[in-house]
Amino acid sequence: MNDPIQHLLDEHRDIMLQVADLRRAVEDLGRRGEAALPEALPVLGAVGRMMAGQLLQHARKEDEALFPALEEIFGREGSPTGVMRREHADIHAQAARFRETLHELNQIEHPAIVAHGRSLRELAAGGAGAEALRATGAEIVRLLDLHFAKEEQVLFPMAREMLSPEAMEAVMRQMRALEGSKAG
Ligand SMILES: [Fe+2]
Ligand SMILES: [Fe+2]
Repeated sequence: MNDPIQHLLDEHRDIMLQVADLRRAVEDLGRRGEAALPEALPVLGAVGRMMAGQLLQHARKEDEALFPALEEIFGREGSPTGVMRREHADIHAQAARFRETLHELNQIEHPAIVAHGRSLRELAAGGAGAEALRATGAEIVRLLDLHFAKEEQVLFPMAREMLSPEAMEAVMRQMRALEGSKAG
């Protein structure tokens, strides 16, 4: 499979299947409090490990393969050819919005998600109460819902539009290399 966007979408779906368990655990903790802990703790631990492994690698594929390819396109914005190629004001506005979205996804949301995964692992390992675990779990669900929606509705469609077939192939190759570099 050589479509890097489809590859990322498949990973979103796989990650969200695991986040569905987290959603149920969060609801259960809200409903039954401490009584839900014996069942919830293994689920929270597994999601915490997924966030340190699969989700972190997924974010690296975006941060280190997809986003730089997109930034390369917008980096040409200031050059004479770039200006000629993109002389319409609405395209400039779209590019500015795109750069802003990239910044949010890469500089703000990815680090926030990673930090919350760390808190969840620490809380789950450290005998935290039901409410602390529920609140952290709920925040992770909220962040991931928003983040994946923004990527799927804004960034990925734009990437499909902007990246040439050659650029898409290069992104896919870099993603595969990142998978190799994380093995073991
Ligand atoms: Fe992301
Ligand atoms: Fe993503």
